[in-house]
Amino acid sequence: MSAAARVIRGRVLSFTDDPSLGGSRAYSLVDDGAVLVAGGLIEAVGEARDILARAPGGAVIDDHAGSFIMPGFIDAHVHYPQTQVIGSYGAQLLDWLNTYTFVEEQKFADPAHCARVASFFLDELICTGTTTAMVYCTVHPQSVDAFFGAAEKRAMRMIAGKVMMDRDTPERLKDDAQRGYDESKALITRWRGRGRLDYAITPRFAVTSTMAQLEAAGALAREFPQLYVQTHANENKAEIARVAALFPKAESYIDVYARAGLLGPRSVLGHCIHLQASEVALLAESRSVAAFCPTSNLFLGSGLFDQARLRRAGVRIALATDVGGGTSYSMLRTAAEGYKVLQLNGQSWPALEAFYRMTLGNARALSLDGRIGSIEAGKEADLVALDPRATPALAHRMETAGGDLQVELFALMMLGDDRAVRETYVAGEPRKGAAA
Ligand code: GUN
Ligand code: ZN
Repeated sequence: MSAAARVIRGRVLSFTDDPSLGGSRAYSLVDDGAVLVAGGLIEAVGEARDILARAPGGAVIDDHAGSFIMPGFIDAHVHYPQTQVIGSYGAQLLDWLNTYTFVEEQKFADPAHCARVASFFLDELICTGTTTAMVYCTVHPQSVDAFFGAAEKRAMRMIAGKVMMDRDTPERLKDDAQRGYDESKALITRWRGRGRLDYAITPRFAVTSTMAQLEAAGALAREFPQLYVQTHANENKAEIARVAALFPKAESYIDVYARAGLLGPRSVLGHCIHLQASEVALLAESRSVAAFCPTSNLFLGSGLFDQARLRRAGVRIALATDVGGGTSYSMLRTAAEGYKVLQLNGQSWPALEAFYRMTLGNARALSLDGRIGSIEAGKEADLVALDPRATPALAHRMETAGGDLQVELFALMMLGDDRAVRETYVAGEPRKGAAA
């Protein structure tokens, strides 16, 4: 991390609470604002004239007048080994895994391939304004080493883990209950808490793990209660039927994970679309997080996430790309598709709620809100500068926004993508130029 001070000037927007809760004011906006960053942290935020007056001599000034300065986006569920699976034609979940994904993931036995893809993936995240993600690697420990190595080089805050799979997958992608446990533990020892890195115990899903392996993952979670757990659940109807056949004693798909000790406040379960009432209750009671992956759910024809139902039940929710089932690295594109999914379910999603979710909401879902997700003194300086007039179509649309924040943010979310990202700051340093 560089110690040089920097002033980042623009329309500083940051959330203080969840706007869906209806509190008085869940965000702060300073139209001619600035953020003073140094040593990787936010030192001060406020009116540009005040921040410029207190900035040390020699501070670099980045003027993004007219652009929003927001916390860097957070992606709560994504697969880095699927950058060459994204956009694969014509299949639903189980066929898609067998036809494309498990073929591609075998290439990660080669550390050089892991390193190349990890670099590509992280640079792509930076280009789209994402500064933190919760990431699946493959079954190969070298895929985790390559990923964390590339994240450390970029000083990015990342959570990741080795996929555990001991059945229903090609031989070359299988570990077993003991080996999955041992390899995960060695990776935890090597990487967890190093710089900005953290580890997620990663049994892929109940289809590809025996109960012995899920229990081994649960044992790791008990040994290391500060670690994350990530897996998939209730994404696709054929998948759910398969889980019911594989685990006849369990009451439901989510109950399989409950029995294995895999639910809890640091557990993030991708998808959670087709849930029984008892499963919703298990998620809520355990404080587990359901990750809404709209582009993936549409692309794989999986179904429509029921945000209103989960909210009513008090289930914690995150938003995620799920690349390569998901079709975009961009959280803006992801939120736009999320809006459309909710529309199909007769639900709505104001832009303020969507931007909250991409920033502070996802930071809270990942228990990282003490460090990232808002623009406050002492937080880590992961920021994105977003130009609401970046493209001709955006500039044209903004002519009729009338300076209304909600209208501007909604149009930015519906029309924006990586072209709207003027700059991405990771630990206070501008990284988009280097990543592009
Ligand atoms: N379920 C198990 N593995 C995967 C995966 O890689 N992508 C998606 N979308 N669902 C899964
Ligand atoms: Zn996934």
